[in-house]
Amino acid sequence: MSSLAPLTGRVRPVVLEADDICVTIRTSSGVVTPVDHVSLQLRQGEVLGIVGETGSGKTVTCRSLLGLMPSGQASHTGSVRYPGVLDGNALDLGRRGMRKHWGRYISMIPQNPMTSLNPVQRIGDQIAEAVTAHQKLSKGATAERVIELMSRVGIPVPEKRLRDYPHQFSGGMLQRTLIAIALAGNPKVLIADEPTTALDVIIQDQILSLLIDLQRDIGMSLVLVSHDLSVIAQICDRVGVMYAGQLVEMAATQDILRRPQHPYTAALLKSLPGAVARDQPLTTITGSPPRLVDLPQTCRFQPRCPFAEDACGTWPTDLLHTGDTGRVRCRRHDELDLAAGLAPVPAAAGPSLPIVGVHAH
Ligand SMILES: Nc1ncnc2c1ncn2[C@@H]1O[C@H](COP(=O)(O)OP(=O)(O)OP(=O)(O)O)[C@@H](O)[C@H]1O
Ligand SMILES: [Mg+2]
Repeated sequence: MSSLAPLTGRVRPVVLEADDICVTIRTSSGVVTPVDHVSLQLRQGEVLGIVGETGSGKTVTCRSLLGLMPSGQASHTGSVRYPGVLDGNALDLGRRGMRKHWGRYISMIPQNPMTSLNPVQRIGDQIAEAVTAHQKLSKGATAERVIELMSRVGIPVPEKRLRDYPHQFSGGMLQRTLIAIALAGNPKVLIADEPTTALDVIIQDQILSLLIDLQRDIGMSLVLVSHDLSVIAQICDRVGVMYAGQLVEMAATQDILRRPQHPYTAALLKSLPGAVARDQPLTTITGSPPRLVDLPQTCRFQPRCPFAEDACGTWPTDLLHTGDTGRVRCRRHDELDLAAGLAPVPAAAGPSLPIVGVHAH
């Protein structure tokens, strides 16, 4: 969990506000809507997790937080604002308007470390490029900053390793390099898109610990994306659950673990060994998510939902308020007891305790 907890009566400022974003892409098979009415708010020092199956729109959502649109015939509505920093809507400003904010205010660790680095350029030079993109420094000062960044992200003997090429680095070291590049401009907001997916379990834990250390030290806000709820639950203050381009639930991690409100969230939890009560079987979600082409504005989880009723097929999937800050897109959320069968979450524990060390793939 981030350092958000010891707040003493002061509400932290909002650093990013996404309001009702929709992204559509015109393709030969129809209009795809990877992001459909997504709203979220991120406060200073907060760690927000976004979880969802492959193709649910996590990457397109994250990129839109930087004002980036998918390739092809993409269009958007809605807005992304950085209060006090950005005049206007990041989605409307284009590369020219946004470039000065990338790296400096908001950075993204891309999903695939192997293809994100230049294979024929030395690691040190790639980090140096990121450093000099934000600051005019002498050669010596740049080299010092590169070594400082490499050691900060845990690359051993950086003065030697900076001469290596990407193929000489392990997956974990490549991921650390991408984190160093993302941090080169001291951003206030870091978006980490599946930073641990390609790594084995031990290295995954090391990278997560590194991210959370950095987040605490620097006081950054972090958006952590994963298809694995056990990863998200370990370190996030709040969780947004995506399904077929929509946020179907958003709540504090503790609330998600104790009282999931959406059948999809509950189903994700019931597939995680540490989240299920000892005497309960693990279950998997049958069926597959819908294709994101010409989708109806009614519940998209209905065909896979064990609690679906006929009326769910006509309900216009509004995001409903739950408790003080939670949101859910299920018309039945009040009447369902979705926590049945889940392991109890200790009151004093951080969000991670019930499922630490469990990685479902
Ligand atoms: N440029 C594009 N043109 C057409 N379709 C696209 C484009 N970019 C994304 N999509 C589609 O949008 C949907 C969401 O993609 P996205 O990459 O955001 O998913 P994701 O949740 O990040 O998945 P994963 O877990 O596999 O990374 C997918 O169906 C994808 O095929
Ligand atoms: Mg993705």
